[in-house]
Amino acid sequence: MASVTLENVSKSYPSRKGAVCAVRGFNLDIRDGEFVVLVGPSGCGKTTTLRMIAGLEEISGGVIRIGGRVVNDVQPKDRDVAMVFQNYALYPHMTVYDNLAFALKIRRMPKADIRARVHEVAEMLHIAGLLDRRPKDLSGGERQRVAVGRAIVRRPSVFLFDEPLSNLDARLRLHTRTELKALHQRLGTTCIYVTHDQEEAMTLGERLVLMRDGVIQQSGPPMELYTRPVNRFAASFIGSPGMNFLQATREDGRWRLTAGGTWRRDPEPSSEAALVEVELAFRPEHVRLQGDGGTPARANHGALCFSGNVTVVEPLGETMNVHIALSSGESVIARVPPISSASPGSPVTASVEGERVHIFDDRGDGARR
Ligand SMILES: Nc1ncnc2c1ncn2[C@@H]1O[C@H](COP(=O)(O)OP(=O)(O)O)[C@@H](O)[C@H]1O
Ligand SMILES: [Mg+2]
Repeated sequence: MASVTLENVSKSYPSRKGAVCAVRGFNLDIRDGEFVVLVGPSGCGKTTTLRMIAGLEEISGGVIRIGGRVVNDVQPKDRDVAMVFQNYALYPHMTVYDNLAFALKIRRMPKADIRARVHEVAEMLHIAGLLDRRPKDLSGGERQRVAVGRAIVRRPSVFLFDEPLSNLDARLRLHTRTELKALHQRLGTTCIYVTHDQEEAMTLGERLVLMRDGVIQQSGPPMELYTRPVNRFAASFIGSPGMNFLQATREDGRWRLTAGGTWRRDPEPSSEAALVEVELAFRPEHVRLQGDGGTPARANHGALCFSGNVTVVEPLGETMNVHIALSSGESVIARVPPISSASPGSPVTASVEGERVHIFDDRGDGARR
């Protein structure tokens, strides 16, 4: 097992219009045995970062260390990392056994040891019955296991996963996700896992590293990103359904909502004094609908209140999503108990406790003040 450190790592690709900067100023310390997830929208530099760690992509600047050793100029095969890709790239002409054994044969491991290792890994991944088959005779999920098995069998210091579940159907994806987490708990090997799926990231990672345009936006435990997003991008990316955003402008020491109504945070942070236009943001589960039982948060107790019309109601069993259209043209999703009486077309008044409301400056980088 090993720690992985990236120090001011950057990567630019040459292009006709000058260089494309895929990753910039990337700093990250990954603990020995940690499960870190790089998450962000397509094109934000996740794969590039992973390939630089694997040594498959030369870095343009900075330093990468694995287990304390600088690996900038170390060949991929000598980095003691194993990578699992989105397209499993199994050897089609080889049996599952030979696919698993391949890397060990190349390392000239004795036959009996190879046998023992392959069988151990096959048991662990529930593919012991498939060892004689070829990849074309496997289901997507089975192929995916073989690909993971090929990485595990080498007992590397670091696992690198690049969207390994994206080719599986939804149900299998959830199942395999749980298995990967259990596998990490069992093996304790450092994992760096890439996904664009925020839910996969939240459920798997001990730590998330949220990227955008090649730059780290926020890094921390999943619940920290969920409860304390550092900017609008982080707020909008993590969570499903996503954070609600309402436009507001400053007026007489209060925020006046474009959708009507005012809100005052109490006590009001003085740093907000300079802001004129902001977005007030809050999670769907923090919206309460009047008339749904419980005590609705009251405006004079620091809550944010607004009214609108219910457009769509989506029952989800435990909860339901109520979509509300506001007079400003904005919309809000409330995630409420299934006993809610909200029905399409009916007017509704909603409230959010003041401390659940985030304020984002909607100018420039959208950084939170
Ligand atoms: N070989 C390449 N040549 C030129 N540009 C590339 C190359 N690989 C990736 N890029 C660019 O780098 C950026 C990051 O890509 P990538 O790391 O694949 O993102 P992600 O995995 O997050 O979707 C994208 O803008 C992509 O177009
Ligand atoms: Mg990618």
